[in-house]
Amino acid sequence: MLTLGISLLVGSVGTLIHNLSFSSSFSFRKHFPVACRTLGLSVTHGNEIALPSVNKVINESWGVRLLVGLPVGLSSAKVIDHKDAIAEALRVPADSVEMRYANDGLIVDIVTQQMPTRLPYKAPDDPDSYRVLIGVNQRNEPRYYDFDGSYPHLLIGGISGGGKSVILRSILTTLVSGPAPDLYLCDLKGGVELGIFRRLACVKGFGTTIEDVRRLAAELEAEMLRRYAILAENGAQSWTGKKAILVIDELADFKSRAGDPDAKVKAEIKAIIARISAKGRAAGVLLVLATQRPSADVVDGMIKTNIAASICFRTRDTTQSRIILDSPAAADLPDIPGRLIFQTAYDETLQAPFLSAEEARRLIADLPQRQHEEVVQNEPHINQADAMDCDIIEL
Ligand SMILES: Nc1ncnc2c1ncn2[C@@H]1O[C@H](COP(=O)(O)OP(=O)(O)O)[C@@H](O)[C@H]1O
Ligand SMILES: [Mg+2]
Repeated sequence: MLTLGISLLVGSVGTLIHNLSFSSSFSFRKHFPVACRTLGLSVTHGNEIALPSVNKVINESWGVRLLVGLPVGLSSAKVIDHKDAIAEALRVPADSVEMRYANDGLIVDIVTQQMPTRLPYKAPDDPDSYRVLIGVNQRNEPRYYDFDGSYPHLLIGGISGGGKSVILRSILTTLVSGPAPDLYLCDLKGGVELGIFRRLACVKGFGTTIEDVRRLAAELEAEMLRRYAILAENGAQSWTGKKAILVIDELADFKSRAGDPDAKVKAEIKAIIARISAKGRAAGVLLVLATQRPSADVVDGMIKTNIAASICFRTRDTTQSRIILDSPAAADLPDIPGRLIFQTAYDETLQAPFLSAEEARRLIADLPQRQHEEVVQNEPHINQADAMDCDIIEL
């Protein structure tokens, strides 16, 4: 009884419960069926009530796993529907409980390990891969975004100070140290955020003004159309050469207000972005857009009509969260820089790696550079070698 008392008392204190999780295992075994009974998750046969039973309690590095057997007639889906209420009855936070059906029973994971608040950046293991680390989940499992995968285009949202520029820095550092795609970088903070990359040979364009963004987006669209023409000529369906990526840090500045002298340019940019988001993937032309204040029309033009992955740091309100994720969840994220919801087929909370500008500068110092600024501005982005790369037909 004393053990039970202690475990319930510390139930909401993550670090303590982790240390005491084994004294609490007994209580989970006992209290899971009790919670189910209270919630009506049982099957009645005459006078007998059959309840779920915890057949095994496994202590894991990240918390506790319960293997639960269900009585005939009680579906796992019904129990999973009551996940939040069961968590409350077990005195653990709702988001620490994960349930799934497996081997004619239910696996209930109670993840008591705290997420790290700072995760150091690590250089990728496979330098040829377009996979970039987005963060680790509560179990310390890494999660990646693959620029070569099934979710083309990446949208990054969340409040100022959330970690958008830092994750862009770590994504770009990984890409330039690895496959070095052709990069078109737009930094509307005058170059403070992405400036460290501007002299790299793989950076085909660098812009700091709205007009620069229009020019670079138009160049990239021309490149996309050129690649389509080559694909058609070769009877190929998708580009297997180097990818070209347009990165924009602070898309918020694109929102035009009444009387905005840049309204026309902004409308043009939006139209180009919408076209690239719809057609870019097959041509290996991708977008990474970061925005503090997502405007529904830009985002609608992109993610609602085309499959995209989203990274959403904490948002000011549920409306902003809905624009990015279609769910209010990012408004409830803790105020921890680098804490985000990564959305692909499902949503998962992660802690992003931290990479300082100094460290990034050091990591990229030995990569091929351009000699002069002028070259960056005027370099023709069409590369003959690429044209030869696209004759493999993807089936
Ligand atoms: N992944 C992270 N881990 C730890 N701290 C972070 C992380 N990302 C950002 N920060 C902290 O938050 C600050 C603001 O991050 P930044 O990327 O500039 O925010 P945003 O671009 O969203 O306004 C950084 O200077 C850093 O101190
Ligand atoms: Mg920023």
